[in-house]
Amino acid sequence: MTHSIQEITAINTYPVRHAILRAGKPIESCHFEGDELPTTHHFGYYLATELIGVISLFEAKNTAFGEQESFQIRGMAVLTNHQRKGIGEALVRAAESFCKKQETTLIWFNARTSAVGFYEKMGYEISGAEFEIQGVGPHFLMHKKI
Ligand SMILES: CC(C)(COP(=O)(O)OP(=O)(O)OC[C@H]1O[C@@H](n2cnc3c(N)ncnc32)[C@H](O)[C@@H]1OP(=O)(O)O)[C@@H](O)C(=O)NCCC(=O)NCCS
Repeated sequence: MTHSIQEITAINTYPVRHAILRAGKPIESCHFEGDELPTTHHFGYYLATELIGVISLFEAKNTAFGEQESFQIRGMAVLTNHQRKGIGEALVRAAESFCKKQETTLIWFNARTSAVGFYEKMGYEISGAEFEIQGVGPHFLMHKKI
């Protein structure tokens, strides 16, 4: 089946964010502050016409990495039936290519502890200790210079 990664709008990410990242919570919980900013970019993985994975990039600095321009990954999710087939990795690679085109060389994010191994396979490193994001669960700060 044909597949493609396309830039999509914030609202188009909601069905996948909702099913995977905000299950059982109100749909409004799928909105992230800054989603509609012109500097924020959302990408979707389509299998034929079905959206099965999403990733978002927010222009954001993190004081842990000084004043360096950077993008933060948020809202990374692949529908359950399609996980472990390389789709998440393809989305992260697409996000990295986008950052390189923007001449931004640092990507960071707060990774769910359960997903740390996924990011480590792509060369991301943990900084500091595990911490709790209220209502979501335990996370680690991760980053990579690209
Ligand atoms: C984490 C997630 C995005 C990974 O996407 P995916 O499409 O399932 O992952 P891929 O198939 O591209 O995996 C790439 C590699 O990472 C491994 N991997 C995938 N998920 C993993 C995990 N949770 N822990 C450890 N390794 C993992 C895969 O086995 C694969 O390894 P291989 O190349 O040796 O075969 C997806 O499982 C998901 O949406 N999970 C629930 C939501 C979530 O945790 N999102 C991230 C929030 S920070």
